[in-house]
Amino acid sequence: MPLCIRTNKKFGEIIRKALISKKLLDFSFLPYKDNEYIWFPLIKEPSKKQKEQLEKICAFVIEDKVLSPSEYRPKSFKEILREKLTEKEAEQLVTSFDVIGDIAVIEIPKELENKKQFVGEAILEVHPHIKTVARICGEHTGDFRLRPIEIIAGEKRTLTLHKESGCLFKVDVANTYFSPRLSFERMRIARLIKPNEIIGAWFAGVGPFPIVFAKHTKMKYAIAIELNPKAYSLLVENIKINKSENRIRPLLGDVRKIVPKLNEKFDRIVMPMPKGAEDFLDEVFASANNGCKVHFYRFADTKNPFLDSEKKISTAAAKNKRFVVFSDKRIVRSVSASKVQIVIDFEVR
Ligand SMILES: C[S@@+](CC[C@H](N)C(=O)[O-])C[C@H]1O[C@@H](n2cnc3c(N)ncnc32)[C@H](O)[C@@H]1O
Repeated sequence: MPLCIRTNKKFGEIIRKALISKKLLDFSFLPYKDNEYIWFPLIKEPSKKQKEQLEKICAFVIEDKVLSPSEYRPKSFKEILREKLTEKEAEQLVTSFDVIGDIAVIEIPKELENKKQFVGEAILEVHPHIKTVARICGEHTGDFRLRPIEIIAGEKRTLTLHKESGCLFKVDVANTYFSPRLSFERMRIARLIKPNEIIGAWFAGVGPFPIVFAKHTKMKYAIAIELNPKAYSLLVENIKINKSENRIRPLLGDVRKIVPKLNEKFDRIVMPMPKGAEDFLDEVFASANNGCKVHFYRFADTKNPFLDSEKKISTAAAKNKRFVVFSDKRIVRSVSASKVQIVIDFEVR
């Protein structure tokens, strides 16, 4: 006999939605209705705070009630959308979304603004491990590469713990940059790292590149440089969480100011700053050991994506009296119909 919440039938739909968003609704039993009331089965007794929030919606009683088991089969996200959106609306919605820890981050076009809560609740219903749904409200901008977001369903928070390649990262999806789509790149580079390398992990964010390197390679150490104080503070925490204090040195500030003062030569430099990485090439050539490997990320046109970056790298090398050998290049991901993110690997001599 499950624990249930009983309320007046007229509040049925609103309380059902609230229970889903609080992860309290037990889908293994069918709700029951009589002429006046409806009973919803609960996974557990709501906390004091949850009860207070539910009381703001309507009056209710919590009690045991015999209910029939449901033959509930969780619907897919697309099935739920098809029930509530027109065909045209469903087409406008990109149904894939990023998951960072227990937060889903999704783009919802302006035309579907009035359906955003429904879309958020559909994600919570289908994916029990997701606790919060955030809508992306604009592009990444500014030096910190942040994008505006709004929480559209679930718990009102932006901090989460993300797991990747055996590492844990605390991420604030509103105040720091983090993309789970770069996980392949992090491991691709980790596989190239030789024992005892000294690595410049520039534009480090909350630390995913150097922390994955510390976990999976025999590098000597990495110097992780980050400008955004909020990202830097999580970088420091993440280094501790992953027990990498002895192999990653975090520094807060601008690569352009910090690198010349470091008195350090790198065997490898990672530059995950696709907007503007070309402005930091002088710092690369000034701090690269002979044979230093560089991983240079940049946004580019889909047409001839590598040419302009290769020219910029060669020109900066000549200016700094260095020589480069290009070793690899690939498209990391598509950004829009006309734009891609690329990576170029080169060696400095
Ligand atoms: C695209 S994000 C990459 C973050 C991280 N490496 C990742 O993959 O999640 C670029 C990062 O570089 C930082 N940044 C921007 N300009 C910088 C500078 N001049 N010096 C150091 N960090 C900078 C931003 O704050 C941001 O966290």
